[in-house]
Amino acid sequence: MLDKVKELIGEVNDFKATTKEELEAFRIKYMGKKGILNDLFAEFKNVANDQKKEFGQALNTFKNAAEGKVNELRASLEEANLNTSSLNDLTRPAEPMSLGSRHPISIVKNQIIDVFSRIGFTVSEGPEIEDDWHNFTALNLPEYHPARDMQDTFFIEQNPDILLRTHTSSVQTRYMENNEPPIRTLSPGRVFRNEDISARAHCIFHQVEGLYIDTDVSFADLKQTLLYFTQEMFGKSKIRLRPSYFPFTEPSAEVDIYWGLETETDYKITKGTGWLEIMGCGMVDPNVLKNANIDPTKYSGYAFGMGIERIAMLLYQIPDIRMFYENDVRFLEQFKSIN
Ligand code: PHE
Repeated sequence: MLDKVKELIGEVNDFKATTKEELEAFRIKYMGKKGILNDLFAEFKNVANDQKKEFGQALNTFKNAAEGKVNELRASLEEANLNTSSLNDLTRPAEPMSLGSRHPISIVKNQIIDVFSRIGFTVSEGPEIEDDWHNFTALNLPEYHPARDMQDTFFIEQNPDILLRTHTSSVQTRYMENNEPPIRTLSPGRVFRNEDISARAHCIFHQVEGLYIDTDVSFADLKQTLLYFTQEMFGKSKIRLRPSYFPFTEPSAEVDIYWGLETETDYKITKGTGWLEIMGCGMVDPNVLKNANIDPTKYSGYAFGMGIERIAMLLYQIPDIRMFYENDVRFLEQFKSIN
C-alpha cells in the first residue's frame, strides 16, 4: 500500500501538460470526487494501526504534490497563453488615452492675452496677497475713501493691512514701480471680494488688467484699443463709453459693446437693450503715476480691467458663475474641443 502511494507521488511529480485539457484530466484523475486521492483516503480505515502514521504522512505528501502540480501547471499554461495572444500582436490598436481639457477661465484668459499681445502688450503678474498700499492707497484710494466700501475683502492681518487683493489694478502699481515707461502690460489673475455667493457673484473671480503708459497717450488711443479688442474677441464692431468713476483713472468710463438684438438669447443677456457692459477703463490718474515715481507732466496713459468669468459666461452661455469652481467633469468636458 505504502509503495503504491510512493509510486503515485513519483507519477504526479513527473507529470507534464501542454494543454488545459490535459491538465484538467489529470486533476480529475487524482483529485476528482472519485479520484485516486479520495479512494486512498477511504482505504485509510483498513490500514493496520501501527502503519497508520506512516501511511497518513505519505497520503498528505501525495495530496500536496498533486495540488502543487495542478497550481504550477495552471500558472505556466496561463503565462504561455498571454505571451502568444494579444500582447504579441503589434498591430492591435493602442489603449485609448484620456485627455483632459483646459478650464474655460484659462481658455478665455489666453484668448484675451493673445489679442493684446498682437499689439505689443506683455504679460505680468502680481501677488494675490497684497498690502494696503498696492491694492488701495497707491491707487488713489486712501483710507476712509468711500469707494473702498465697494471692495470689501478678506484681511489676513490688520494695522498694517495685509489682504486678498480686490482687483488686478494692484499689479499696475507694482509694475510701474519696477519698470520705466513705455509700459504696455496685461495682468491676468485671481481676485477676491467679500460678496455673497450667487449665480452672478462669487467671492473669488478673475480679472485681466491692462496698462499703457507713454508720452502723449490720449483717450483716443484708449478708445481705438478697446474697439480693436472687441472686434478681435467678439467679432463686434460697435462700442460705447459711459462716464463712470474709479479713483485711479480720470476720466473713467464703462465700456459697453453692442451685442445686437437678433435672437432670444441676445434679448436675455442684454436685458432687451442690445448693449452689454464688459469692462471699466480710464486715463491713469496723475496721482497714481506720482505714487509710482513716474512724472505725470511727461507721461500719460490708460488702464482697463475686465472680469474673465463674465466674458466666459457670455461667450459660452454659462448661466451660473459657481459652475467655474465646482470642477464637475460634465461641465469641464464640454470645453475639450477648444484650446
Ligand atoms: N479695478 C476696477 C474694478 O475692479 C476695473 C478698472 C481697472 C477700472 C482699470 C479702470 C481701470 O472694478
